[in-house]
Amino acid sequence: MEFKVVFETKSVVETQELGEKLGSLLSKGDLVALKGDLGAGKTAFARGITRGVGSEDFVTSPTFTIINEYGGDVPVAHIDVYRLSDAGELEEIGFRDYLKEYVVIIEWADLVIDILPEEILWVELETIGEQERRIIFTAKGKKYEKILQEMKKS
Ligand SMILES: Nc1ncnc2c1ncn2[C@@H]1O[C@H](COP(=O)(O)OP(=O)(O)OP(=O)(O)O)[C@@H](O)[C@H]1O
Ligand SMILES: [Mg+2]
Repeated sequence: MEFKVVFETKSVVETQELGEKLGSLLSKGDLVALKGDLGAGKTAFARGITRGVGSEDFVTSPTFTIINEYGGDVPVAHIDVYRLSDAGELEEIGFRDYLKEYVVIIEWADLVIDILPEEILWVELETIGEQERRIIFTAKGKKYEKILQEMKKS
């Protein structure tokens, strides 16, 4: 069962706001898989999510650190798998444990698709202009379908 919602943003601020809206609907154990080319806006969107979940921390790219953690009532684990050599490394950094207690966001999630759970929210960012992005949400599973229904209303 798959459920899709498509948005378009006209600035980085709009992308962050969309992320924030999503973040406000997430809870512990939720998994957001981001895909999109270099500079598409994955980190900008993740920054919005983190804010929406409730963290005031400043979100930076985990490209080199692989994982950044942010505080809040529900903690956020922001992971970038671009530099991992294989999906096994994601297991090694404790991916399964994060999934129990955190909202988990993965950039370049398509690179580790083999080990991702079936229930997941995919967010694909497409560059359609210098400042324009198409953001395609695909919910896999009832939980994420409900979240997308809420996103659609706003
Ligand atoms: N509508 C938009 N949404 C998001 N970012 C935008 C938009 N318009 C312009 N930008 C710019 O695009 C860049 C997006 O950078 P960001 O680091 O979020 O991308 P990324 O997908 O995480 O890249 P990487 O693959 O390197 O991790 C920023 O410089 C941002 O200002
Ligand atoms: Mg990034």
